[in-house]
Amino acid sequence: MIDKIKGHIAEVESFNAKTKDEIEAFRIKYLGKKGILNDFFSEFKNVPNEQKKEFGQVINELKTTAQAKVNSLKDELDKNQEEKGVYGDLSRPAEPVEIGSRHPISIVKNQIIEIFSNIGFNVSEGPEMEDDWHNFTALNLPEYHPARDMQDTFFIQTNPDILLRTHTSSVQVRYMENNKPPIRTISPGRVFRNEAISARSHCIFHQVEGLYIDKDVSFADLKQTILYFTKQLFGKSKIRLRPSYFPFTEPSAEVDVYWGLETETDYRITKGTGWLEIMGCGMVDPNVLKNCGIDPKEYSGFAFGMGIERIAMLLYQIEDIRMFYENDLRFLEQFKSAL
Ligand code: PHE
Repeated sequence: MIDKIKGHIAEVESFNAKTKDEIEAFRIKYLGKKGILNDFFSEFKNVPNEQKKEFGQVINELKTTAQAKVNSLKDELDKNQEEKGVYGDLSRPAEPVEIGSRHPISIVKNQIIEIFSNIGFNVSEGPEMEDDWHNFTALNLPEYHPARDMQDTFFIQTNPDILLRTHTSSVQVRYMENNKPPIRTISPGRVFRNEAISARSHCIFHQVEGLYIDKDVSFADLKQTILYFTKQLFGKSKIRLRPSYFPFTEPSAEVDVYWGLETETDYRITKGTGWLEIMGCGMVDPNVLKNCGIDPKEYSGFAFGMGIERIAMLLYQIEDIRMFYENDLRFLEQFKSAL
């Protein structure tokens, strides 16, 4: 009998359990009311007197070993669960991290900024809600000037003096008012025009306008600057300037870049001509310089302006301007690899 109990002690010592249920079953088997220990205890009275002492000792040893085993297994289980609470399962695979992407308008805007900052242009910004002076009057567009109709304007409530800027030329007016020449600045930003929304135009879009004012700035400087820009951005080195009209520049021109006629798409987007219009430009009108506190006898300059959406549509072959504003992930995710 004593050997049997010693066998149990060895079994208890080598026992191991991972779950609460296993430990509980073990506890009941040894320490429960109808458990092995109680069986032995009830045997006690039948043990011959000379063996009682030893029997008592081993049976007590079995009891304390079993008790200690149950306690240590429970402690271990609790400890594991605590660690899980803090760290989770340390062996599980990592969660995949979704990498976001820049919006194509931001990508193109940053490219344009980079190209001009390489030749000394800084970036200036201004308010989207403007007054009449900065958006129109200072730019040689006095009240009732017919050219105001070129840009259909959103006014703020009933105050005709406050409006949503129709171009970022307003930022250039502010810049000239607050800085002395030489001036080399580009003004990226959001602009607003009351136009019907279609695949080609939207009532909210983005522009980058540029301004260069110094002594003896000529039309040749303007042309070289734009040529440098088109080479950098499109990798195209043929441009042409067509006479145009803007109230704030004289002379004014529209810039076309020679896109080529290599693919079917080239034919379609250039309407079979190979040429694409990309921006407006001209020599700053002396009246504008005067309005902004710069002496036109001493200084001259050029300005240009382009729509970021239009450039992005050309670069990425996007057919519909509305895609920029729908925030469809299937569209946006295509720009993950760009910048
Ligand atoms: N402000 C003009 C527009 O929004 C663009 C432009 C800027 C043209 C500077 C000439 C010179 O259409």
